[in-house]
Amino acid sequence: MNVADSEVVASILSPYYSITDSLRDADLILLNTCSVRDNAEQRIRKRLRELASLKKKNKSLLIGLLGCMAERIKEQLLEEEKTLDFIAGPDAYRSLPQLIEKASLGMVSYNVYLSEEETYDDIDPVRYDSNGVSAFISIMRGCNNFCSYCVVPYTRGRERSRDPKTIIEEAQSLFDKGFREVTLLGQNVNSYCWKATENNIDFADLTEKIAQISPLLRVRYATSHPKDISDKLLFVMAKYPNVCHYIHLPVQSGSNAMLQKMNRVYTREYYLERIKKIKEILPDCAISTDVIAGFCGETEQDHRDTLSLMREVGYEYAFMFKYSVREGTKAAEKLEDDVPEELKIKRLEEIIALQQHLSLESNKRDIGKTFSVLVEGVSKRSDRHLFGRNPQNKVCVFPKKHYKTGDYVEVKIAKCTAGTLLGEVTSDK
Ligand code: 5AD
Ligand code: SF4
Repeated sequence: MNVADSEVVASILSPYYSITDSLRDADLILLNTCSVRDNAEQRIRKRLRELASLKKKNKSLLIGLLGCMAERIKEQLLEEEKTLDFIAGPDAYRSLPQLIEKASLGMVSYNVYLSEEETYDDIDPVRYDSNGVSAFISIMRGCNNFCSYCVVPYTRGRERSRDPKTIIEEAQSLFDKGFREVTLLGQNVNSYCWKATENNIDFADLTEKIAQISPLLRVRYATSHPKDISDKLLFVMAKYPNVCHYIHLPVQSGSNAMLQKMNRVYTREYYLERIKKIKEILPDCAISTDVIAGFCGETEQDHRDTLSLMREVGYEYAFMFKYSVREGTKAAEKLEDDVPEELKIKRLEEIIALQQHLSLESNKRDIGKTFSVLVEGVSKRSDRHLFGRNPQNKVCVFPKKHYKTGDYVEVKIAKCTAGTLLGEVTSDK
């Protein structure tokens, strides 16, 4: 999400600034922030301290803070962090030129107004740090779900969908420029809805339209809320081979008591029914998730329920966190953060260890199979190897030979680790 936002910001500022790779050459440094978990905020504060020395060397250097954290702590932050010159919340990027000008005159400068309409739909993002193959397209902003632990509805505001016409144009233009994969982004893409006079366009319709641009354009999306993942979407995924068979479906917990406290509005049984349906309609679909360890009141049995659900689903991958209280949320106000830190860490470690095992088992099952891989670049470990991902979003590494970034190749898997599949190209497409 933040990459997509930074690309919008780069576009808004392109008449005034060009992008540099070197911090020392910069006249303007923008930190795009996230408040979802506490450690993200701590990292930004550390970064601001590191940047203070650059300001001593370059008196005209301006430093601005963008995104969620800006939204959350606003004036307090300008007071506390002297390195900071201005602040722009996630819906205020169009006002950046004015904010920068005010800051350059030494005036207090911030805009954290949250809009009910802003989707930046007319802005063509500058893909400044791109591999030229895969790109993110933001299709909606904000979230209405109010999970009790989460700041997003407060920092990014209400849910709003972007005009499908502009999304399709952006995808088409990326394809024309040589991009071969787009990831449709939103906090909760499955509730995408564009109200039209005749028929409304939902996420399944939008996915279908993007898939029809070209069979050579891969379509991915993130993130899905289990309550909204429809059979209609699963059928679109089954119909178009270029819509990747990979779903990120955050479960957060395997315990009904926790799910209720989290205000996730589904039960373990409902979630498992959705998984069953996904596997029925898309037998080769990979599934990943987000899990929170040590939420308020979590008992040992609740934790065991999470582990057993993870085993039952057999996730390919998971993003795993320990609960951290976020000010202003329902959980912060109404629930006690009563799981001791050591216990949160212990449970998180158990969750990570289990996922490591599940990922390895899943990868082992792929040995001997052949996948279509879109080449993304040279492998980090060896310049004689390339890497790309298969439709299931697994990283595949293979000898380079004459292949290049942007090619589709068929890779037969011979070996694996928990994080990577290794193989040989059997043929180009
Ligand atoms: N503590 C820990 N993890 C959190 N997440 C969101 N809020 C919190 C929090 N307060 C996690 C959820 C979400 C992911 C983006 O971040 O798992 O799906
Ligand atoms: Fe946060 Fe829940 Fe919205 Fe995800 S769905 S962004 S966890 S409130």
